[in-house]
Amino acid sequence: MKIALITGVSGQDGSYLAEFLLQKGYKVHGIRRYSSTNTIKNLYGIVNNKKLNKNFFLHYADVTDTDSIYRVIKSVKPIEIYNLAAQSHVHASFKVPEYTSQVDAVSQLRVIEVVKQLNPKIKIYQAATSELYGNSNKKFQNENTPFDPVSPYSTAKLYGFYISKVYREAYGMFITNGILFNHESPRRGPSFVTKKITESVKKIVNGEIAYMSLGNLDSKRDWGYAKEYVESMWVMLQQKKPDDFVIATGKVYSVRNFVEEAFRNVNIKIKWKGTGVNEFGYDMKTKKILVKVDPYYFRPNELNYLRGDYSKSKKILKWRPKVTFKELVKIMIQAEFKN
Ligand code: NAP
Ligand code: GDD
Repeated sequence: MKIALITGVSGQDGSYLAEFLLQKGYKVHGIRRYSSTNTIKNLYGIVNNKKLNKNFFLHYADVTDTDSIYRVIKSVKPIEIYNLAAQSHVHASFKVPEYTSQVDAVSQLRVIEVVKQLNPKIKIYQAATSELYGNSNKKFQNENTPFDPVSPYSTAKLYGFYISKVYREAYGMFITNGILFNHESPRRGPSFVTKKITESVKKIVNGEIAYMSLGNLDSKRDWGYAKEYVESMWVMLQQKKPDDFVIATGKVYSVRNFVEEAFRNVNIKIKWKGTGVNEFGYDMKTKKILVKVDPYYFRPNELNYLRGDYSKSKKILKWRPKVTFKELVKIMIQAEFKN
């Protein structure tokens, strides 16, 4: 039986990936941080499923703690490691830049070094990101587009990207960087914009809140569906040689578009009025204000536009996105109301 280890298993991607690998017949081990609160709700689908749960194991460890990582990798003996653990919030990285560097940069090296010492044949997937491109002037970004990070988060991830490449080239290790563009799902953390919007739509419809407050409405992202993006991680590790791959949809939408589409799913048509921080969105029928702009959510450095060219992945990995933007918003809204 193939054995995989996932760091960040309780996160959005980690939980979908664990389900995917278990269904493929893997024995899956996950690294979980110590916490006095319950942080594993994304894993309920596994732990409540006898068939999946019998091959699923959680270990307490922290990617900032070399000894704990060493111990887990030594005992688990994985053939593949999916290194997903991160402080993954870009805005938060401006508030805790040093911590973000520890978790998102040095920890990527930590895992690689432990693997080099224990068994350099273990294949590693590193979670790189489209944030690396920063405010690129290219219409589409691909594996050849220069990086220009604009946040402590992406600067830390830049280190992770290059240290992976260095170990790949210097020691012949199998380390692949997945440059994934934004991907969302009902399991997205509540402070990321898509989940915040869908959760707020539900609360507004249920009368729990009157409106939602957002930051930059004009920011554009290439949003895909997390559940299908994690499959590409596995495909990357099944290739003959390690490489870097962009995973994206090639389509771009603004935060404003996401808001409109989310409300459309509950039969509310949003109209916009005003500009800048005085802009607001209101229900065309009732005239009630449902969206306001709050500068608190602006970032010290904004990344305005990301759109991926995934042609290399399509050609080599035979991977392509299937879920459209509209379907993604619908999946997220339906999950809110089901909850
Ligand atoms: P996420 O939901 O924020 O999950 C992050 C995971 O990392 C959580 O399980 C978290 O555990 C864990 N973690 C954080 N610090 C840790 C530490 N010190 N030791 C061990 N585990 C730790 O992120 P995601 O959206 O699934 O993303 C997965 C990875 O892909 C991240 O590296 C992210 O930066 C990268 N990425 C994401 C996207 C995207 O659009 N989602 C795009 C490109 C790249 P707790 O539950 O204990 O907090
Ligand atoms: N979070 C948040 N909250 N973002 C807002 C808000 C708000 O209230 N209002 C507007 N935005 C804008 C942000 O300024 C940003 O331009 C865009 O919405 C998306 O923000 P997030 O959902 O927080 O995601 P992100 O693009 O910054 O980062 C995500 O994607 C990266 C890949 O490109 C994270 O998952 C990163 O970990 C990942 O690497």
